[in-house]
Amino acid sequence: MGPHIRTNSTSMSYSIPYEEKVAKFKGKKGSDGNYTVTLIEGDGIGPEISQSVKDIFAAAKTPIKWESVDVTPQLKDGRTVIPDKAIESVKTNFVALKGPLATPIGKGHVSLNLTLRRTFNLFANVRPCVSIAGYKTPYDNVDTVLIRENTEGEYSGIEHVVIDGVVQSIKLITRAASERVLRFAFQYAEDVGKRKVRVVHKATIMKMSDGLFLNIAREISKDFPKVEFDAELLDNACLKIVTDPTPYNDKVLVMPNLYGDILSDMCAGLIGGLGLTPSGNIGDECSIFEAVHGSAPDIAGKGLANPTALLLSSIMMLQHMELHEHADKIQKAIFDTLAEGKVRPLPVILRDDVLTLPVFDRRPGRQG
Ligand SMILES: NC(=O)c1ccc[n+]([C@@H]2O[C@H](COP(=O)([O-])OP(=O)(O)OC[C@H]3O[C@@H](n4cnc5c(N)ncnc54)[C@H](O)[C@@H]3O)[C@@H](O)[C@H]2O)c1
Repeated sequence: MGPHIRTNSTSMSYSIPYEEKVAKFKGKKGSDGNYTVTLIEGDGIGPEISQSVKDIFAAAKTPIKWESVDVTPQLKDGRTVIPDKAIESVKTNFVALKGPLATPIGKGHVSLNLTLRRTFNLFANVRPCVSIAGYKTPYDNVDTVLIRENTEGEYSGIEHVVIDGVVQSIKLITRAASERVLRFAFQYAEDVGKRKVRVVHKATIMKMSDGLFLNIAREISKDFPKVEFDAELLDNACLKIVTDPTPYNDKVLVMPNLYGDILSDMCAGLIGGLGLTPSGNIGDECSIFEAVHGSAPDIAGKGLANPTALLLSSIMMLQHMELHEHADKIQKAIFDTLAEGKVRPLPVILRDDVLTLPVFDRRPGRQG
């Protein structure tokens, strides 16, 4: 049995009733017994790895019907926007699976990923980080979760020139956004059976902004008496995790935007890279699950793309939709396959990106 990305807690009961939970999945089954899920196949290898997910879901008889949408950005009044049809689809289905999107090069375009986060107000980025049997790294038994505030902080995009040679970049922290991501982190800890929520911060230096985040965490922890709460300085957390990640296995780590961006990729490195890392962007209304690696234009169409990250993200999606039986079944199959070494792990380190991926060689006669 492989490691679980998310398990239903058996040892912990819930502090708040189901009806009061934040970011619950609101979708309903259609008359054919299926949920409709928006599929953003993405660019480059996106369609290939999406096809793998579709094939596996069909084989596992998952009650899901896909609705493919195109999110090719449009410029409206100088702003990058997503086509209305795509927005409508995600809003109706409340859930989407997304392949990698190439950020168009040229002025005027904000990253599409950022645009999606803003359009649907996806306030929490959830990144489970679990060692995978069959893919050896210097670290065994990693099993932690990072939750990153996804809408403000250092990524608010508020920058200006004060005078020539002096610029300011504003880190915006609000009570409203902090409260909702922190409440979600406590709720998630209970859902997956983690004993502790730890805020990672730098309130010693950013006394007001990180200080507010930390104080709100302390307040919210009172609503979750079954979950322990503490805090750790960012630099200390980095040092400790790379020295020995196992003390983090009973914890959900939650933090402001930039720290989460860096720490979640650092932790992905502990288990073998972005090619093995699932991710979910959670909002109050809709949630979007995605692989965090890019569109890999260098190998697109060559049958070399590894679908593991998108597949693991699709399992997080099934768990979010409370389809636990199907999630467990597919997850077990993936981890068993990886553990048996039925795929050849080829470390991929290209250009300056140090992105190590076990590559499924799917060309005929090359498998095994
Ligand atoms: N979440 C996203 O949608 C996302 C994230 C990062 C980059 N991008 C976009 O992707 C494009 C390419 O970016 P990049 O080259 O910097 O990063 P990349 O992740 O696409 O590629 C880096 C290296 O890893 C390999 N790789 C990536 N995913 C793989 C997979 N599933 N299987 C096998 N090998 C894989 C690639 O072949 C390449 O050698 C850019 O347009 C960028 O904006 C999108």
